[in-house]
Amino acid sequence: MDTKTESRYPEVYARSLRDPTGFWGEQAEAIDWIEKPKTVFDPKAGIYGRWFTDGVCNTCWNAVDRHVKAGRGEQAAFIYDSPVTGQKRKISYKELLDEVKAFGAVLHGFGVEKGDRVIIYMPMVPEALIAMLACARIGAIHSVVFGGFAAKELATRIDDAKPKVILSASCGIEPGRTVAYKPLLDEAIKLSKEKPQAVILLQRPQQEAPMTAGRDHDWAALRAAAIRDGKTADCVPCLATDPLYIIYTSGTTGVPKGVVRDHGGHLVSLNWSMKGIYGIDPGETWWAGSDIGWVVGHSYIVYAPLFHGCSSVLYEGKPIGTPDAGAYWRVISEHGVVSLFTAPTAFRAIKKEDPQGKFLSGKDLSKFRTLFLAGERADPDTIQWAEKLLKVPVIDHWWQTESGWPMVSNPVGLGAMPVKYGSPTVAVPGYDVRVVDEQNKEVKPGTMGAVVVKLPLPPGCLPTLWHQDERFKESYLTEFPGYYKTSDAGYKDEDGYIFIMGRTDDIINVAGHRLSTGGMEEVLSSHPDVAECAVIGVADQLKGEVPCGFIVLKAGVNKPPAEVEKEVVSLVRERIGPVAAFKLAIVVNRLPKTRSGKILRGTMKKIADSQPWTMPATIDDPAIMDEIKTSMKERGLAAG
Ligand code: COA
Ligand code: AMP
Repeated sequence: MDTKTESRYPEVYARSLRDPTGFWGEQAEAIDWIEKPKTVFDPKAGIYGRWFTDGVCNTCWNAVDRHVKAGRGEQAAFIYDSPVTGQKRKISYKELLDEVKAFGAVLHGFGVEKGDRVIIYMPMVPEALIAMLACARIGAIHSVVFGGFAAKELATRIDDAKPKVILSASCGIEPGRTVAYKPLLDEAIKLSKEKPQAVILLQRPQQEAPMTAGRDHDWAALRAAAIRDGKTADCVPCLATDPLYIIYTSGTTGVPKGVVRDHGGHLVSLNWSMKGIYGIDPGETWWAGSDIGWVVGHSYIVYAPLFHGCSSVLYEGKPIGTPDAGAYWRVISEHGVVSLFTAPTAFRAIKKEDPQGKFLSGKDLSKFRTLFLAGERADPDTIQWAEKLLKVPVIDHWWQTESGWPMVSNPVGLGAMPVKYGSPTVAVPGYDVRVVDEQNKEVKPGTMGAVVVKLPLPPGCLPTLWHQDERFKESYLTEFPGYYKTSDAGYKDEDGYIFIMGRTDDIINVAGHRLSTGGMEEVLSSHPDVAECAVIGVADQLKGEVPCGFIVLKAGVNKPPAEVEKEVVSLVRERIGPVAAFKLAIVVNRLPKTRSGKILRGTMKKIADSQPWTMPATIDDPAIMDEIKTSMKERGLAAG
């Protein structure tokens, strides 16, 4: 295809690689610094170098205070729209400033100071965002844990982050049910070795929770007292390289990785991305339809839109069922949203419920310019359906928790490049994305390989894992020396367009949520009747992938297999959480293995997905593959 372009992208991208310090030094001018960095990049600092090493700043100042100072006080910072509770509320920059000052003082009251960790285990309510910004204000390091995770997952994060205080709410609200958070929190604290000094609990009227005397404190009462007494917290100067937050993400074992984000690089890169990638201007209304528990929520519900002086929608609801498949169109029209960022799965859900787009009728989408999709591969069918329906560009873009902002995208703000369906388009300025073979040699265009990024990573990307420098090096920097390993496979075409085809590790993507099958296998193996197991991700029309577990029972187990299957499904829900969407376990007699004993998960997946497959030459006993296929067919898999 003809990819000649009027876009400024080729020139901006080339400059970002040719002269990274010049490029990022200029972008840093858009930030308010307490002490302006003299060093843009120090190659000797940290593990692969650090950005803005001698800069001093405050993230909350840049997100809130400076906009009030510049006259945006009356503009909405957040627009809270919660169909599950029937609430709508605009929080202006001025109100937000008062709230973060007060809540910062509340945290100070519990002895939380610069460098202390605070875990936030909360639903999508304004208080959660206020808490994140209040932590940033006082230099405390927040770690937000997604509400759909179970107690054990929360406990693992508590033990790793060792928070002084945990912030939580009495409940979350899912369509048709209220999820009590408090029992999960209590159980997590019971399971954890590192006990927090205090819990600050937001009581929601939908389901209040009993308080634990001596440990739990009422959020509303503390806030009211701070405001009554005029207590406020000032912005604490932080080094650009100090950690702003830790976000845990699935690793290849059950132990999640604590991705660290720093202040300075995060500020500069995210602020640049709002215009450079997303084409958004200050004052516009932007909506990231994600959850604050995920990186998309951190970066594009909370931080980037606020750094850039936008109004950001905080939506507590789903694309369908709250109340119908027109929910997204309602929010866009009601709040004058110019761009929406969500996961393809949300659009697949809407498409399934309302293929003709009937719910769009009567909705005013005149301000709406662009739809951005990420979190999983955007299938061309869904993209084309959305383009036809909404009559706006639909942009697939690719990134990870680790990067914190897009690595490959169509840079709308620099002038959009021609779209190639199935490709998230081109490497974002700052990212030198390559495709290499096992020998770490770049492959020819069109050839699949490992997608890697040449070091150093640009500002905003993880400098390390929380207190685990060695694990950081092993996980990301060792296999392809000189590069960061993304653990995604893909290829580049002759025009430099990048195609991301899937993970090279055990991570699967369920409704845009990143989950480790290894972690699920650990749970299945812990069941007393299970001898061995394998979990694979099987293709799903709605969620992209869903997990499916194969289990071999121990000799002498007399229970009916269906009973064990039910028990392991409950066990995963209990240990990892409902977000794993683990609903299918199949008892089999044997698992297919190589002669050296490795379970052939890749071939099992191909069979389950009805993809072409060949019998691996290394298989120990080919008959087992037929047995597995029969078991799959009985359960509705391997239909082709
Ligand atoms: N707290 C507690 N439970 C939660 C939760 C939360 N914050 N979020 C999800 N869950 C539960 C759900 O209720 C569901 O439980 P169930 O098994 O009892 O039904 C389970 O976790 C799986 O949730 P989800 O992945 O949301 O699937 P769903 O079937 O409820 O909805 C979609 C499907 C497509 C509508 C939904 O995945 C969606 O809205 N996706 C949007 C994309 C997105 O947010 N991606 C994030 C990365 S950008
Ligand atoms: P997370 O860290 O949860 O954001 O998940 C990151 C992973 O999701 C990536 O490594 C990819 O495997 C996948 N992913 C995210 N966005 C895309 C995309 N646009 N296309 C293909 N895969 C994607």
